[in-house]
Amino acid sequence: MKIHTKAVHAGDRKKAPSQIGVTTPIYTAASFITSSLAEQDRIYGAEEQGFAYQRYANPTNAALEEQMTALEGGHGCLATASGMSALLIALHAALVDRTHSVICSRDIYGATIKLLDGVFEPFNVNVRYVDLTDLNALDASIAAEKPGAILLETISNPTLRVADLEAIAQRCRAVNAALIVDNTFATPLLVRPLELGANIVVHSVTKYLSGHGDVLGGLVIGDQEHHEMVRYLSRIYGPVLGPFESYLAMRGAKTFPLRMERQCRNAQGLAAWLRTQKSISRVHYLDDPEHPDAATIWRLLTNGLYGAMVTFELAGAQKPQIFKLVDSLGLVVNASSLGDVHTMVLYPWISSHREVTPKMKAAMGVTESLLRVSVGIEDLDDIIADFEQALA
Ligand SMILES: Cc1ncc(COP(=O)(O)O)c(C=O)c1O
Repeated sequence: MKIHTKAVHAGDRKKAPSQIGVTTPIYTAASFITSSLAEQDRIYGAEEQGFAYQRYANPTNAALEEQMTALEGGHGCLATASGMSALLIALHAALVDRTHSVICSRDIYGATIKLLDGVFEPFNVNVRYVDLTDLNALDASIAAEKPGAILLETISNPTLRVADLEAIAQRCRAVNAALIVDNTFATPLLVRPLELGANIVVHSVTKYLSGHGDVLGGLVIGDQEHHEMVRYLSRIYGPVLGPFESYLAMRGAKTFPLRMERQCRNAQGLAAWLRTQKSISRVHYLDDPEHPDAATIWRLLTNGLYGAMVTFELAGAQKPQIFKLVDSLGLVVNASSLGDVHTMVLYPWISSHREVTPKMKAAMGVTESLLRVSVGIEDLDDIIADFEQALA
């Protein structure tokens, strides 16, 4: 089955004899009654699949998890309360039986840096940030750090760098490090990292997959070894998604490939227009033949879609000029998220990368003049018209 079909059908209408809802309902019950104590015993003993207690599993979450496993591949999925809790549990699961050392892409979401530096490092996990688009630099740090895990974003937030996933996966296999990939920006429509050798894929389901700006949630989709550890840890510390959010995420995800295709086309159109504007000094978008990672992008993104994020620099701008531009936008929403149906703008300097050190910001190219646009499904002409009037 192809991805559009899986998005619509996977997870719902299980064992449908007749008179069963076309969608999976919201199960709010905290616990589940079994036909006998012996059945409960089999469920707790994992001899039988079933539901006993909401922290362990819930039918609404199970439907979403099945849908997401179908979209990304892999052995199974855990739906979590946020993208950050998905990253936390993925890293924890990866490091359980390995060296407590992580190589993380230098180009990454600010809160992920905070998670590594503020939560893992104090527990004696060694964290090293490396430009993963430079395989020589990666080889040198693998030799020095002997990492237990390597973490990267398929398309990095916000500067849209793309590292060679397959080459990194090969290196991970050679040293028994787990490869964790945050696939939030790319989505499984563009890249499916598990098929390229990753062990765990993480999503903020808050973004493209749910797509309507009304859910906060995360996903951890793993190969067999890691999925079992993720579920084991989740049963203990329980960062699970609530059933209402699960329902909304699943509902949104049915149309995600459709929305994403249009968002990618709109983003390509907006990037092309921004490149013609004198006041814009640089446009970051993945269809650019001059992109520093162009060769990897052509190899990895094979369906002619280059993502729906566009990042640009307003020539010579500092905070006041950026504030003026953003405050002049009308249709485009100024809010801290991405992937919604509406076009959104975010200023990484004051938000997603605010607490990243100046040195790291400079290394990853997050400057005071950089704005990130998450392009929505509106008519492209209207999106461009809004930027045009705001830039005038
Ligand atoms: C690439 C990426 N990963 C993870 C997250 C965290 O997701 P959440 O806000 O759902 O915790 C974000 C949030 O913006 C993100 O952009």
